[in-house]
Amino acid sequence: MKNLVIHDLDGQGWEKIKADYEGWNVFADNGGIRPCMGCFGCWAKTPGECVIKDGYDRVGQIFKDAEEIVVISRWTFGGFSPFVKNIFDRSIGHALPFFQMIDGEMHHVPRYEDEKIDLYIRFYGEEPSEEEKEVSREYVRAVCRNTLMTLKEVSWNKTVQPSEGDLFPAKDISGLKEKPLSGTVFLNASTRGNASNSKAYLEKLGEIMGVSPEILNINDYRNSIDTLADLILPAEKLVIAMPLYLDGIPAQVIPLLEKLYEKDAAGGKKVYVIANMGFYESIQIRNMLALMKVWCRHLGYVFGGGLAVGAGGTLKKMMEASGAEGPAKKAVEGLEKLAEAVKEGGIIPDIYADPYNLSIEEYTEICHSAWYKWAEATGLSKEDLFRKMP
Ligand SMILES: Cc1cc2nc3c(=O)[nH]c(=O)nc-3n(C[C@H](O)[C@H](O)[C@H](O)COP(=O)(O)O)c2cc1C
Repeated sequence: MKNLVIHDLDGQGWEKIKADYEGWNVFADNGGIRPCMGCFGCWAKTPGECVIKDGYDRVGQIFKDAEEIVVISRWTFGGFSPFVKNIFDRSIGHALPFFQMIDGEMHHVPRYEDEKIDLYIRFYGEEPSEEEKEVSREYVRAVCRNTLMTLKEVSWNKTVQPSEGDLFPAKDISGLKEKPLSGTVFLNASTRGNASNSKAYLEKLGEIMGVSPEILNINDYRNSIDTLADLILPAEKLVIAMPLYLDGIPAQVIPLLEKLYEKDAAGGKKVYVIANMGFYESIQIRNMLALMKVWCRHLGYVFGGGLAVGAGGTLKKMMEASGAEGPAKKAVEGLEKLAEAVKEGGIIPDIYADPYNLSIEEYTEICHSAWYKWAEATGLSKEDLFRKMP
C-alpha cells in the first residue's frame, strides 16, 4: 500500500507541505500531461493502463495502491484545476467498462474488488460563496460515488498562499460599454473530434435551426487556446458540446474557461451546453451543468440552458435510424427546444433526455456486448478486459 497525493502546486508551494507526504506517491504537474482522448484504450486495448505514454499512463494502477488519496487543487469555477482534473480523467482504467447499479444509479464495476480508498479534497485559492461551496461538495460526492471512493473531506485551505492567477472573483460588468456582441460560435469540446457524439449533436442542432454552422474543434487549438478564446470573444452566443468526464467538465475544456475569464471584460454572452454521457441517466450530468453555471456567473455570462443526453453514443447512432418514436426521441426533442432558445437568444430550463423505449437493462446489454466485440477486434479475450495490473 502506498498513499497518493495529487497536487497542482508550484515548487515553492509544494516545498512548504511536502514533509507531510513523506513516502507517498505524488502526482505533480510537470507541464507535459496530455488530456484523455476518449479512445477507451485503457478498457479495450491495454486494459487497466492508459495508451498515452506521457508519464501519466499508470494513474489507474497508482490509485489502486492507495488507501488514502489527498487532492490539493486550485478551486476553479467550482471544480478542479486542469491538471488535477486531467489526473481524474486519465484514471478511468481503474474501473472496468461494465455497468452495475448502485443505490439505483448506473456506475462502473470496479477492476479491483477489495480496495477501499478514502478521498480528501483540499481546495485552495478563491474562497467561494456558501452556495458555490455546495456545488463543489455535490460534485465531489458524485465523483466519489462514481469512483467508489469514500469522501472524507472537502475543505478550503488557507495555508496555501494563492497567487493572483489562482483567483477568479466574479466580475462586475455593470456599466461596461464594449462593442456589441454578435453571432453564434459552435464549439465541439470533445477530444474525439470529428468522431465525437458532441459533434453529431451540434450538427443536428444546426440542421434543426436551418443553418450549417462552422463547428470549431477544441483539438485544433490545443496549443493555441488563446486563439480559440479570441474566436469566441466577439460572439453573442456560445454553444458548447462536450462529454461528461468523471461527473464534470473534461480537463481539456478548463483552460479555455480560464482563458475566457482572463480575456473577457465585457461579459454578457449567452452560453448553451449540450452534454452527453456513457451512463443511461442524464440526470447524472447535473453537476457538470452546475459547474458551467458557476463559470458563467464569474464571467458575467448568462447561462441560456443545458441539454443533458443519457446514453449519448447509442442515441447518436439511433438519432436518424430509429424514427420519431425511437430511443433518441427525447434527445431530438431536447435539441428542438435548445435550437429555439439559441435562435431567439432565450433562456430555458435544463433539459434531461434519457433513452426512450429502451430500458436500462437493454442499454446495459448493448454496451456489455459491444465491449466484448471490441476486445475481440483488438485481439483480446473476454478475460483480458478484467486484467489486474500488478
Ligand atoms: C475519461 C472519461 C470519463 C468519463 N466519465 C463519465 C462519467 O462520469 N459518466 C458518464 O456517464 N460517462 C462518462 N464517460 C463516457 C463519455 O461521457 C461518453 O463516452 C460520451 O458519449 C463521449 O462523448 P463524445 O464522443 O462527445 O466525446 C467518460 C468517458 C471518458 C473517456
